[in-house]
Amino acid sequence: MALHPQEHIIYWRVPSNIALVKYWGKHGVQLPQNPSLSFTLRQSYTDMQILYRPSESGNRTIDFYFEGKPNEKFKAKIVQFLESLPDDFAFTKGLQLTIKSLNSFPHSAGIASSASSMGALAMCLATLAQKQGVFLGSPEQALQKASNWARLASGSACRSVYGGYTVWGATHELPGSSDLFAIPLETQQVHPYFATFCDTILIISGEEKAVSSRAGHALMNGHPFATVRYEQARRNLSRLLDVLKNGDIEDFIQIVENEALTLHGLMMNSNPSFILMKPATLAVIEELRTFRRDTGIPLTFTLDAGPNIHLLYPLAYQVEIHAFITDRLVRYCQENRYIHDGVGTGPQLFN
Ligand code: PMV
Repeated sequence: MALHPQEHIIYWRVPSNIALVKYWGKHGVQLPQNPSLSFTLRQSYTDMQILYRPSESGNRTIDFYFEGKPNEKFKAKIVQFLESLPDDFAFTKGLQLTIKSLNSFPHSAGIASSASSMGALAMCLATLAQKQGVFLGSPEQALQKASNWARLASGSACRSVYGGYTVWGATHELPGSSDLFAIPLETQQVHPYFATFCDTILIISGEEKAVSSRAGHALMNGHPFATVRYEQARRNLSRLLDVLKNGDIEDFIQIVENEALTLHGLMMNSNPSFILMKPATLAVIEELRTFRRDTGIPLTFTLDAGPNIHLLYPLAYQVEIHAFITDRLVRYCQENRYIHDGVGTGPQLFN
């Protein structure tokens, strides 16, 4: 389909991310109760295009297509987001915007798409702002602005604005860190061993999430373990920053599994209580720990707020671990589904 003569296009591919130290609990306007650390994925991403031109009425209009079909639910979310910060998004006011989005992973994979989709929206809006003559500062400041917008749309999305390992939340250990936006770890802060880490996502169930992210974070308000949890997350973050630098895999395994199981523990003992793991999730964890004990291969895992498992391992053991997945773990996956992913380089602009 030909573009309208006055129409322009912006196209970003933004990957999802997986947290190793979890963000769980927020306050104020989408501010985290503790700093979190994630790496950005490679294969699980959102492709988003914004086509824009001056609108005939002079008012902003938005059309939103998800996987080629109009989607009113997403459109309403985007309109609400743009209206929530009228000054910041003033540059969109007289434009006719057509937003097209699709994910590399199927909706039924149970993978949270808000990090990649809201990350993509923020990157598209930052580029649009610049094309409309809005100065967002230095390249670094422009990315912080995009990360800030992504955070307001969906907390963890702010970490997807960068590749590699990213921290969101103010901590005295990282100068420049902030509750408002994420910052990337520098190359020298990540041992080469972790820079190429692999993540195979086992799809245990593709069902819709039993608890929305908003309701999930709200469970931490008044949770009896809230204060100790936030302290624990800070300690785990501090330890993980050291571990990422020195390449200590034993400590990495201990911290990452502790974070994953704490997240699920907090959901189990909150009110109301949620058990988001399935029997197959536990079976995989048991198999994984037996495999690790028997072979000495440093395979570990993390979990999102759902039943699917992210298997984390060094690239050097890919062959053995792929064989283990095929031999022992595929049987626990819904329709034998899994996605080989890993640490990625971050958003990509197509022009
Ligand atoms: O960004 P939200 O509001 O969808 O929350 C994400 C929460 C976890 O995925 C469980 C943890 C995290 O830090 O990504």
